[in-house]
Parts: sequence; C-alpha cells; structure tokens
Amino acid sequence: MKRDEFSGFFGVLVATVGSAVGLGNLWRFPYLVGQNGGAAFILVYLAFVLIICLPIAVSEFIIGRRTRANTVKAFQILAPRTPWSAIGVVGVIAAFSILAFYTVVGGWTMDYLFRSIIHLFSKPDISSLESQFTTMVTSPVRPIVWTVVFVLFSAFIVMCGIKKGIEKYSRIMMPFLFLMVVILMVRSLTLPGAEKGIAFLVEPDFSKINTSVILAALGQAFFSLSLGMGCLITYGSYIPNKENLTRVSFSTAMSDTLFAMLAGLAIMPAVFAFGISPQEGPGLVFIVLPRIFAQIPLGNYFAVMFFVILLIAAVTSVISLLEVVTAYVTERLKVKRKYAVGVIALLVTVCASFSSLSQGVLSDVKIFGKTIFDFFDYLSANILLPLGGLFIVLFVGWYMKKALVYDEFTNQGTLKGTLFRAYYFIIRYVAPVAIAIVFLDLILR
Ligand code: PFF
Repeated sequence: MKRDEFSGFFGVLVATVGSAVGLGNLWRFPYLVGQNGGAAFILVYLAFVLIICLPIAVSEFIIGRRTRANTVKAFQILAPRTPWSAIGVVGVIAAFSILAFYTVVGGWTMDYLFRSIIHLFSKPDISSLESQFTTMVTSPVRPIVWTVVFVLFSAFIVMCGIKKGIEKYSRIMMPFLFLMVVILMVRSLTLPGAEKGIAFLVEPDFSKINTSVILAALGQAFFSLSLGMGCLITYGSYIPNKENLTRVSFSTAMSDTLFAMLAGLAIMPAVFAFGISPQEGPGLVFIVLPRIFAQIPLGNYFAVMFFVILLIAAVTSVISLLEVVTAYVTERLKVKRKYAVGVIALLVTVCASFSSLSQGVLSDVKIFGKTIFDFFDYLSANILLPLGGLFIVLFVGWYMKKALVYDEFTNQGTLKGTLFRAYYFIIRYVAPVAIAIVFLDLILR
C-alpha cells in the first residue's frame, strides 16, 4: 500500500504549523515573557529560533523524508544495527509523556469553553475566578470527563489519516485560528491603557537577561517548534519529494513565532490595561483572562472565542503527538490505523487521568518530588526534548554521510543549496554545544 502523503506545500505547512502552534504559544509563551522581563526575553527567543531551532527542524525533516518511516524505523534504516534508534524510542516516550499532561490542559480548555458558552448571557462573578479554577482542576471526575472528550476528538482526526485527517482538519482550523487571534489582538490593543503592555513587549531591558532567562528561551523554542522528539521526523516522512525542506522549516518557524507574538499582543496589553501583574504564571490564561473578559464590552463573546482558539491550537498539536506514536505502532506491529489509534487513545487517557487526579486526590503521590502532572511536564519538556534534539543534530551532523544530507537538503541536487554550509556548520558545532549547555544546566540545577 502506498504511504500516505501531504498534498503539497500548503498542506505540509498547515499541518506543521498546526503542530507547532499550540498551548506553547498561547499559554506558555505569554506567561514566560511576563516572568522573564518582556522584550529582552523575546529577542533571545528569536535568536534561538533562527540560529539553532531552524537547522534542527531541517535535520528532522531530512531524516523523516529520506527514510519515509516512523521515528524509530527511520534511525534503523539510516543506521542499521546501532543504538541510534534509541533516539526514536525516546521520542515516542516523550510524545506519550507530553500527551499525558497536555490533554489534561486540553480538557480544562473544553471545560472553560463549555462554561463560557453557558454564561454567554450572564455576568460572571469575578471574585471567585481563582477558586473556580482550583475547584475544577482538583475535582476527581469533571476534568477527566473533558479530557476523555478532548482525546476522542483528537483521536478521531488521526484515525482519518494524513491527507484526509490531519491535513484536512488543519486546513479548516488554522486559518480560522489565525483570524481569531488577530481579532482578539485588535480588541486588546484598543483597550485604554494598552500602551504599557505594548512597551513591555517591544522595549528591551537588557539588564533583565541572565542565564536562567536564556535557558528558559531555548527550552521554550524547542517546545514551541515541536522539536527534539521525532514529531517533525514523522511529519517529514509525509512530505512530497518536490517540497523544499528549508522553505517548509522557515515558514513553520516564522508562522509559529508570528502566532506567539500575536498571542503576546493579544494578552499583555489587556493584562496591563487591567493592572494585573504580568508575572501571574501558568494561571494567566485560565484565571486572568476571564477576569479581563468580564470587564470589557462584548467580553462574553471574546471569552468564547478565546477558548475556541485555545482548543483548536491544542487539538492540532495533540494530533501531531498522537501521530508520532501511531506511525510507530502501525508500522511496527502492522496493525490498522484505527485500532492503533484506539489503543493509544486509551493508554493516553489512563495516564492523563492520573495526571489530572494528581491535581487533587492524588496530590500527595510524588515522583522525584513532583506531582504526576508536573513529572510528565518536566520529563518531556526539560529532559527528553533537549536530549532528543542533541542526539538528532549529532546524528545528522556527525553520523550521517554529508553527501546524503546534502542530497536530501537540495532535493537530490535540484535546488541550489546556498545555505547548506551555514546549516551544516550549525548542526555540527553550534547547536550541539548550545543544547549541551542547556541540558547540563537542567541536570545540575
Ligand atoms: N508545539 C506545541 C505547542 O507549542 O503547544 C507542543 C508540542 C507539540 C511539543 C508536538 C512537541 C510536539 F512534538
């Protein structure tokens, strides 16, 4: 049977941008910007995206398209009978680990969306927003029910395949997402007092830059671009031969960054306009934004819109995570896609239920001193992604034959490959050193 493929440049782009743009942009990025001093953090982040992450994205695509296989098999094909395929296995574990907490936040988003629809015509009680959030996340049943709905919805899309599932739904959802973020941004920018928020985002204060800000920026760049765990290897394996991988990577990185900026511009001016501290942390989206919506004209509608945006962003990222595991299971065990997705969805739900319960009844259960939820988050974002990224660049830069890398980079010599030297220098030297520094810091901290 012919392997499924994306249909062309736009199809590839909506799917990869769909994967990259997620809770990482709309929830994590704004609160990290808030906590790490605003514009200066953004500049460091941008430098990392352009210099380090872009070449890593190209490398993942090269591995995937060259082999047209799942992330474990890809390494087995390129490096038979060597331990390199462990990178792929770690990637599958990382995908699972992200799914185990990301789908819970997806469930919270559904809960908030549902509530914002129900309260469309009533006035929300601002004083209890914080306790509402805590009550919801600590409840033993409600968030799990929403997580199940969220997982089922995402699993359905993955079951439909690449072109008829992931690409088709991304094509519908991503332009809608873009439009809504822009509307929300315009609303936020036109609030009285928005200037302070804009200044926070564009006027860098370089005295705020220290090692922890730099490290936070690199980690965020990895997470946001879906790097280091074989997601782009898997998507790369569905990219048609004629597409220019550098162009796809560049467009993905730029779109992802644009979304992060738009999210910053949609959220920060409103935060400042209402005199809320930008350092609020992870509760920013679920506690602070509803408070803002409660105080602006047509706020109830903007609330619904915001949670629809968050939901779409989360779904298009979760399907890419599910696809990493699905491609591996279907190709390894030779089972039908729908059975593989069904079993994976079930396993994800079980893990996600534990991480949801760890917010409440299981909050005393600790793994290495962390709750189950925080453990999955920490394990994936701070350990497995940097580790995966490091080995991927070492693999492409030092193990794979340069001629082979060049061949795939230039579409079998049909493209000019002007940027190849810069690309190759970065993946051999710059990226490994930079990631190693981040990683060592995380271990030693
Ligand atoms: N990039 C996604 C986000 O920013 O929300 C999260 C993510 C998706 C990370 C897929 C890793 C991945 F493979």
